[in-house]
Amino acid sequence: MYRIRCLMDTVIMLAYVSVIMCHETCTHLQYPQLQHGEQITNDSYLVFDDLYPLQCVKTCISSFVCHAFDYNVRTGTCSLYRRPSGDYVTGENLNYVIGDVADWPRSLAGSCVYHTCPVNALCSAISSSRYVCDVVGCLGTGDKTNTLSGDPAVFQVGYELGDVCKEGYYANTTVVCQHDGNWTAFTCLRLPSNCAELQSCNTSYRDGEYWLYHSDQGTVKRMKIFCYNMTTLNAKDYVTLPYFNFASRSRYVYSNYSTCTTVLADPDTIADHKLGDTEYLKVQLRRSKLRIARGDTTFANYTHKTFYGTAGDANIFVNTTCPALGQFRIDLRNTSFTVNRTSEWILHLSPWSVMENITFSSNNQIVDGLCGGARKPNKPGGCRSSNVFFEINNHYQPDLKSAVIPRCVMN
Ligand SMILES: *[C@@H]1O[C@H](CO)[C@@H](O)[C@H](O)[C@H]1NC(C)=O
Ligand SMILES: *[C@@H]1O[C@H](CO)[C@@H](O)[C@H](O)[C@H]1NC(C)=O
Ligand SMILES: *[C@@H]1O[C@H](CO)[C@@H](O)[C@H](O)[C@H]1NC(C)=O
Ligand SMILES: *[C@@H]1O[C@H](CO)[C@@H](O)[C@H](O)[C@H]1NC(C)=O
Ligand SMILES: *[C@@H]1O[C@H](CO)[C@@H](O)[C@H](O)[C@H]1NC(C)=O
Ligand SMILES: *[C@@H]1O[C@H](CO)[C@@H](O)[C@H](O)[C@H]1NC(C)=O
Ligand SMILES: *[C@@H]1O[C@H](CO)[C@@H](O)[C@H](O)[C@H]1NC(C)=O
Ligand SMILES: *[C@@H]1O[C@H](CO)[C@@H](O)[C@H](O)[C@H]1NC(C)=O
Ligand SMILES: *[C@@H]1O[C@H](CO)[C@@H](O)[C@H](O)[C@H]1NC(C)=O
Ligand SMILES: *[C@@H]1O[C@H](CO)[C@@H](O)[C@H](O)[C@H]1NC(C)=O
Ligand SMILES: *[C@@H]1O[C@H](CO)[C@@H](O)[C@H](O)[C@H]1NC(C)=O
Repeated sequence: MYRIRCLMDTVIMLAYVSVIMCHETCTHLQYPQLQHGEQITNDSYLVFDDLYPLQCVKTCISSFVCHAFDYNVRTGTCSLYRRPSGDYVTGENLNYVIGDVADWPRSLAGSCVYHTCPVNALCSAISSSRYVCDVVGCLGTGDKTNTLSGDPAVFQVGYELGDVCKEGYYANTTVVCQHDGNWTAFTCLRLPSNCAELQSCNTSYRDGEYWLYHSDQGTVKRMKIFCYNMTTLNAKDYVTLPYFNFASRSRYVYSNYSTCTTVLADPDTIADHKLGDTEYLKVQLRRSKLRIARGDTTFANYTHKTFYGTAGDANIFVNTTCPALGQFRIDLRNTSFTVNRTSEWILHLSPWSVMENITFSSNNQIVDGLCGGARKPNKPGGCRSSNVFFEINNHYQPDLKSAVIPRCVMN
């Protein structure tokens, strides 16, 4: 965008070169103010291509905040810096020269000597007493301020910003630096909170692990969700469970309640009481409230299905001190979740049932339950959760790379 008016520039350059030539014989780059064979390795705030060396000097003088520059003698790339070159890290590079504006006569800038152009504009002298400010870029927004101590960055016209919204949100449009020095107007929209929203965000997403965003008391928190049935109108949300999660109605029964001796139940009892273990590899999360669909066994294996967070056995717990044999374990390690402590366990209605122990690990990631008892005739007893709620784990999240951050199709 920025092209120095050639004629005027040539005049200024010639004038300046002739001044220098009065003192010494110099060729194109042999100004004593330039430090040869070195480059500034810090990020510059503004870059121009295809400039002559003196144009680079003059450009730096014409920018309100420029103190130093480096210049690639092969490509004509001129990079501007806010501080004297001595404040920066430099590296050897035969294609570069470094200069500081303090070493050059400011008169090189003509009427721009005492300009008040804003940081994102360059001064351009139009007569011996007048100048104009040419906008060359936009000031940094969001976290795109790659400069020191809060200095705003200057991004050149046409620069496209990446993520301008905070985590969990995306911009409604591509944000580009406009010619007037303003960024494209945009609003931040929330990323999907469930798999159905993910489907409408980008119809090309298939079954897999995604980062979705749960709204919780005004903040938006990331959660790793397995989206399933994404090619149907019935997309469902699951949590993949890397650790062992199971629910059992024990296949063992007491043969003697005074000695607490157990035996494997006979096939009829196993069939009648539907005894056996269910291992859950994923559990279904209902939308919005992080409530578990306890009966969903799409990703479970079992001979007789036992609901998630449920345990029982076929024993009759009256006048005995023998422990319950049914167990369940909810183990949310390596997931985005912990168990919400408002989740409650209740006994199945039966005089023979017992709920021995429900224990939460200190960080609420693991819940172990020990329950037993039968509901006659031929009905499993023990305990069940009235509702299992998860909540977002504020102290742990799986590896960011283990799931896809949605990219929504913009209108
Ligand atoms: C230049 O970069 C170095 C390391 O990359 C950093 O320590 C130093 O503070 C930077 N200097 C300035 C002036 O930005
Ligand atoms: C650019 O931004 C400035 C300052 O915010 C504002 O005054 C001006 O109207 C904007 N220009 C356009 C074309 O939106
Ligand atoms: C994006 O949001 C801004 C601000 O609300 C609005 O002016 C602009 O028209 C929107 N752009 C698109 C492409 O929807
Ligand atoms: C997944 O989609 C298939 C085909 O539409 C359907 O039979 C099945 O019940 C769905 N599963 C779930 C868990 O919704
Ligand atoms: C759990 O995550 C840790 C890293 O955070 C990893 O080392 C470990 O193997 C994972 N365990 C399982 C069972 O996936
Ligand atoms: C249970 O065990 C006790 C102690 O060994 C024994 O006295 C009793 O006869 C046993 N009862 C049955 C029903 O086997
Ligand atoms: C359940 O299925 C998984 C995967 O097919 C397998 O690794 C696991 O051993 C099975 N568990 C049980 C209890 O059958
Ligand atoms: C349990 O023990 C109590 C007191 O010993 C007794 O009254 C009751 O009948 C016993 N119940 C059964 C079912 O054995
Ligand atoms: C419940 O479980 C905890 C931890 O496993 C254990 O310390 C406690 O003794 C158990 N309580 C009962 C009544 O079994
Ligand atoms: C725990 O579950 C209850 C009941 O659904 C809910 O009101 C509460 O907000 C949940 N807590 C968190 C931290 O998610
Ligand atoms: C939609 O998702 C596909 C594949 O996952 C991705 O390649 C594409 O870039 C996304 N579309 C947009 C507009 O982000």
